[in-house]
Amino acid sequence: MSKHIWLITGSNRGIGLETAKQLLDSPENVVLATCRKPSQATALAQLAESAPGRLHVIELDTNDDASVRQSVEQASSIVGDSGIDYLINNAAINEGMGTVSSTMDLDILTREFRVNVLGPARVYQAYLPLVAKSQKKTVVNMSSRLGSIGNNCGTLYTTYSITKTALNMLTYKEHAERPDLVFIAMDPGHLKTELGGPTAVLEVSVGVKGVLNVIGRLQAEDSGKFFSFRGEVHPW
Ligand SMILES: NC(=O)c1ccc[n+]([C@@H]2O[C@H](COP(=O)([O-])OP(=O)(O)OC[C@H]3O[C@@H](n4cnc5c(N)ncnc54)[C@H](OP(=O)(O)O)[C@@H]3O)[C@@H](O)[C@H]2O)c1
Repeated sequence: MSKHIWLITGSNRGIGLETAKQLLDSPENVVLATCRKPSQATALAQLAESAPGRLHVIELDTNDDASVRQSVEQASSIVGDSGIDYLINNAAINEGMGTVSSTMDLDILTREFRVNVLGPARVYQAYLPLVAKSQKKTVVNMSSRLGSIGNNCGTLYTTYSITKTALNMLTYKEHAERPDLVFIAMDPGHLKTELGGPTAVLEVSVGVKGVLNVIGRLQAEDSGKFFSFRGEVHPW
């Protein structure tokens, strides 16, 4: 059986954790579950016990060059020549739920930009050699419907929306430069996680199931697009 190797950032909770969980349901998947503090990632440790040899917990702070470099060394030693089939840039923050342009806190915008845009850019650059030598060669940038200008998302969530729109452009540019790889921006839906907040209606398992369905059906011609977890293509 040929293995599919996945790397997920921010996998100690929320969508990242659920993604790791659902992937382990299929015996062909091997998951490199990365997070900032493995020693505190108890849910990941339990998952690793339930799937011996198929879930590897790796320390990775997407904001930190040295941490990303060390994680690449560790990941390389685990995957060898197989590379990484699916790089899931999932880690993000949202500190400014109610922000509007006229009053948004620029320090929040800076912090969110650093994690939500520079993080995926840094991780992509560092992991590109491993992704490029894999079978599937796929990069998924976890975006949000709030990053879609064409969806008329209104005045609120300004700082976070700006970062997700920038992430969408990063996805487009990555695709434009490397047509030999597959890149998508993904909207997982509004899900019940810390980031999704108390008004979210969908269980995290529902959104993640949709996300994995979309990824599982990707073709080369889907690269450079922005998908919802239901498989629709969002306008940029
Ligand atoms: N939930 C939703 O409704 C929703 C909707 C649209 C899009 N999304 C997107 O889906 C993705 C996951 O969101 P979520 O709802 O699962 O959020 P979450 O529950 O708040 O989890 C965020 C994850 O990101 C990690 N993280 C934050 N900064 C990091 C850094 N510098 N390095 C490494 N990891 C870092 C967190 O780790 P720590 O525990 O160490 O902080 C945590 O594991 C995000 O990209 C988000 O924008 C979510």
